[in-house]
Amino acid sequence: MGYQDQIDLSRVPKHIAVIMDGNGRWAKGFGKLRIFGHHNGVKSVREAVEAADDIGVKYITLYTFSAENWNRPKFEVSAIMELLVTALSREVAQMMKNNVKLSAIGDLDQLPPRCLKELDNAKEKTKDNTGITMTLAISYGSRREMTVAAKNIAQQVKDGKLNPEDITEEVFAQNLYTHDLPDPELLIRTSGEYRVSNYLLWQIAYAELYFTPKLWPDFRREDLFEAVLDYQKRERRFGKTSEQV
Ligand code: IPE
Ligand code: IPE
Ligand code: MG
Repeated sequence: MGYQDQIDLSRVPKHIAVIMDGNGRWAKGFGKLRIFGHHNGVKSVREAVEAADDIGVKYITLYTFSAENWNRPKFEVSAIMELLVTALSREVAQMMKNNVKLSAIGDLDQLPPRCLKELDNAKEKTKDNTGITMTLAISYGSRREMTVAAKNIAQQVKDGKLNPEDITEEVFAQNLYTHDLPDPELLIRTSGEYRVSNYLLWQIAYAELYFTPKLWPDFRREDLFEAVLDYQKRERRFGKTSEQV
């Protein structure tokens, strides 16, 4: 029996977040440039999104490029931006076929205009799709996201639109890039690194963390199913005792 058949479809996470890591090491294993790994990671994205959709996951949010990744060598940064442009334009047809709705979070103003244009185009084309929502976190950093939220809230208070007593967790969450996404129940990180690298720090407060040594370009449908199965074996207690849940 494959992993997929063992999944309890009534207890599938609604939202899965993924840190797609290990492209550079994967390429190095073939004696190739890092960008070769990024190119081969696109197929893994397709597989992960389709697999998630197949079991009824509603949202998948992929760490595509971090705020810190701008500090990589210029050559790699521009190659990744170029890849984003080509992959987005190439994958739109497949997204339409699979009813995938594209979204993006992050400091998108930092993106090269061509990249932003392709992103807007894909978002516009897929906006009425009703299947899984695939959100790309690009130029994304969680601390920045929270700092921006704090600024927005401060401005609302200053403008007399909000009382400090009314700043609740919900209000804070409403001011994050992810305001229209539920919190992820499962966070997957590939490549054997055990850290969260400034990703969705507020949103993963109670997420189950799943780490796999697989490098991202090797990630396939079965790996997504295996992560969901592992998630289903865990007891989510939210501070209560085992007897209470
Ligand atoms: C993840 O793979 C992709 C991005 C961060 C853009 P890496 O490029 O970080 O690959 P490793 O971690 O160096 O192997
Ligand atoms: C995290 O991977 C960012 C993405 C996957 C886009 P990194 O490879 O940049 O993370 P660190 O620097 O090793 O923590
Ligand atoms: Mg990495």
